[in-house]
Amino acid sequence: MIERHGPPDSLVERDVSLRVPGPDEVQLRVQAAGVNFADLLMRAGLYGTVPSLPYSPGFEVAGEVVRVGSRVDGWRVRDRAVALLRYGGYSHDVVVSPRQIVRYPDSLTPVQAAAVPVGFLTAWVCLFEAGRARAPETVLILGAGGGVGTAAVQLAVRRGLRVIGTAGDMRKRTFVTQELGAEACFDSRGEWEADVRQLVGARGIDLALDPVGGHATAACRRLLAPLGRLIFYGLSDAMPRQKRHWLHAARAWLRTPRFHPLSLVEPNIGIFGVHLLHLQAKQHILTPALDKIFRGVAGGELQPVLDRVFPFDRAGAVEAHRYLHARRNLGKVVLADRTPA
Ligand SMILES: NC(=O)c1ccc[n+]([C@@H]2O[C@H](COP(=O)([O-])OP(=O)(O)OC[C@H]3O[C@@H](n4cnc5c(N)ncnc54)[C@H](OP(=O)(O)O)[C@@H]3O)[C@@H](O)[C@H]2O)c1
Repeated sequence: MIERHGPPDSLVERDVSLRVPGPDEVQLRVQAAGVNFADLLMRAGLYGTVPSLPYSPGFEVAGEVVRVGSRVDGWRVRDRAVALLRYGGYSHDVVVSPRQIVRYPDSLTPVQAAAVPVGFLTAWVCLFEAGRARAPETVLILGAGGGVGTAAVQLAVRRGLRVIGTAGDMRKRTFVTQELGAEACFDSRGEWEADVRQLVGARGIDLALDPVGGHATAACRRLLAPLGRLIFYGLSDAMPRQKRHWLHAARAWLRTPRFHPLSLVEPNIGIFGVHLLHLQAKQHILTPALDKIFRGVAGGELQPVLDRVFPFDRAGAVEAHRYLHARRNLGKVVLADRTPA
């Protein structure tokens, strides 16, 4: 849990009494919790819309229903589910509305299931709801080796899009092209704008998924073809490398271009913002999308790319945060008590 903002080892473990579920709620015993980049931003004090300290990070968990409110239909004790949360997933139990939980296929372990919701749903919304991607358009996916990125590459390839990624090391780039089917994946720390331009020529790209901000956003905008869409969904660039994080975050903020609506008219382009956790009003889109994604995973057409499982305790969470901060993860990182067989 986060009691004060700071580096990974500022996370603490605390016993907190659990709220008794109301008649319209269920209690889920958490077996695995997905770790997301935004958890790091929360811990560093760089994330908006969070409760006052102390609170626990964690947007997604997989677990088993252990209590069901008297007015809840359709759920029973021992049902397995994933939950999407605003925060609080680094916990042994969570109390949630049934609207926040979705069943997952029997063939998946809780660890695999916890690696699916945030990455795949964010990718889905960016590509198909906000981005309206359709074959044979070209999509540029920044951070293609990350949790959202590996999901986005798979969804886009399956839809028949031409996929170009960026990633920070050779292991990720090779995986994104050879295992996930992207046409190319360029060095996110190199001259990727020029590389993409060389590949697509003057025609440009139809869609850019940008979770980075700063100069990367300006580059994506320059690469857009007429009727191209830039989907902005994160500001990884704000993540402090070491200390003095406010200064670093402020620089990232300032580096990110501002767009006047008039500047979009002549080039015929659009800019779209996405924030999955503020989409509760669109649950009728999210729940069927997650069902479809889980069916794809069960059928073997999609795979949650699972990099590492860290122990579900303070030390494990600290190490997981360090691992993500060092940009070493290829796909998802999950906290769980035991590594699945
Ligand atoms: N808006 C939403 O609803 C939503 C939902 C989920 C995630 N997000 C955002 O999407 C991004 C990815 O999330 P994730 O959980 O998939 O994270 P992740 O698995 O850690 O992947 C993030 C990738 O971003 C790159 N990266 C890390 N630190 C960076 C930095 N300081 N500057 C530039 N690039 C950096 C790394 O790629 P390379 O080193 O390989 O380049 C890393 O693989 C984050 O910005 C997150 O906040 C937004």
